[in-house]
Amino acid sequence: MASISRRDFTRNASAAALGLTLTSFGTRQALADEPRTVRLAIVGMGQRGTAHLENLLKIPGTEIVAVCDLFPDRVKRAAELCTAAGRTAPAVYAGDPQAYSELLGKEKLDAVIIATYWDSHAPIALRAISQGVVPGIEVPMALTVNDTWRLLDASEKSNVPFMMLENWSFRPDNLAVLRLKRSGAFGEIVHCHCAHSHDCIDHWFFDAKTGNDRWPAEYLAKYNRDQYPTHSVGPILSWMDINCGDVFTEIFSTASASRGINAYFRRKFGADHPNSKREWKQGDIVTSVLKTEKGKTLVINYDMQLPRPYANRWMLQGTRGVYDEEKASIYLVDASPEHHQWEAWKPYEERFRHRWSDADPGGTHGGADTIMLTQFITSLQNKQPLPLDIYDSAVMTAIVELSGISIEKNAPVPFPDFTRGKWKTRQPYFAI
Ligand SMILES: NC(=O)c1ccc[n+]([C@@H]2O[C@H](COP(=O)([O-])OP(=O)(O)OC[C@H]3O[C@@H](n4cnc5c(N)ncnc54)[C@H](O)[C@@H]3O)[C@@H](O)[C@H]2O)c1
Repeated sequence: MASISRRDFTRNASAAALGLTLTSFGTRQALADEPRTVRLAIVGMGQRGTAHLENLLKIPGTEIVAVCDLFPDRVKRAAELCTAAGRTAPAVYAGDPQAYSELLGKEKLDAVIIATYWDSHAPIALRAISQGVVPGIEVPMALTVNDTWRLLDASEKSNVPFMMLENWSFRPDNLAVLRLKRSGAFGEIVHCHCAHSHDCIDHWFFDAKTGNDRWPAEYLAKYNRDQYPTHSVGPILSWMDINCGDVFTEIFSTASASRGINAYFRRKFGADHPNSKREWKQGDIVTSVLKTEKGKTLVINYDMQLPRPYANRWMLQGTRGVYDEEKASIYLVDASPEHHQWEAWKPYEERFRHRWSDADPGGTHGGADTIMLTQFITSLQNKQPLPLDIYDSAVMTAIVELSGISIEKNAPVPFPDFTRGKWKTRQPYFAI
């Protein structure tokens, strides 16, 4: 079992930059070799880091070398999960917000999974890149456009790739939509819609039992913006050929009043609870309109603090048809049996099922987490480019800060071209 060197990445990244196909550079040879063991660390052993650990323990060819968290009991539990799965106990680092730095300097690693609070994603990823370790970064990978550029610059300079762990891009239904889109069935794509409609007030932003703030609540007090755009936008980027044929040019965001958080606290904890009266900056619904160079539009809704069932409301519309995830329906001029009538999406999903989709049908997030991690690990083993590209990771991330700036200015703001013009010639990349 071999580990993977930084030089291998450099060679492959250069091959990708030169536009060589994967099969033209070493892939056949790599596939014929014994699968390589990917040496991993996980920083952040909370809910998400633990879910990643449990999923990684099921994927062959992984070794959990080290785990790190602020809290010693969390790394202890992580080590126990490893030994219970018959694996070697990892080295543990805890008790200091900078302990990750020691870990990344000391351990021999191929990749690090970063599942900490939002504000530490970029510094940990930058430190990893400086050590030649590939970061798999939880969403969003940074909080500012500046930090997003810093990550891109560091990766491009060092040829150490990174990937934001946006799992909804890997959902089997979304992958099937992408395949169908690439078949030309929707004609030319003109417009998309997506939402993160997920009431997180009663569990993720606050402690449901006590009503105390959890760490993300601070962001609701400080900012008014799309706090969490990546799950909604992730799959859409490839549907719209963003960064490979088209590029976002501007974003215009607006926010509703903030009513949901106070109403929740009054309902659940009574009018005297401090959070029932506290002033929250974050509006309940943020609507962003993005335009592309080629004239496409995208509407994104942030919707995380009003009571409602979960939804992403993905919609894709082109010159020959429309897909509507919430209706689980599709209409195609060339194929649908009745003029202007919806037909069921499910048969299309089965017919256009992507080869990645069989990884873990019963796994977390409908199997999307294992599909994503399996592809991440397989790319590392085979020394191939990572499945989700750095420019797509950057675009999803930048929406956080840019939406806030646009709301504040009440005006559209330019969207950076993270590819620096390469979108004009780059070929579709994701899930090819
Ligand atoms: N993709 C998804 O479906 C999904 C789902 C949930 C959360 N997330 C993302 O995962 C991340 C973590 O969220 P969570 O719900 O697991 O939060 P959490 O609070 O449960 O866990 C975060 C952990 O990070 C640790 N941590 C913070 N700073 C650290 C540092 N400097 N060094 C080491 N450890 C540190 C904390 O001690 C905590 O245990 C967030 O970015 C969130 O957006 C993604």
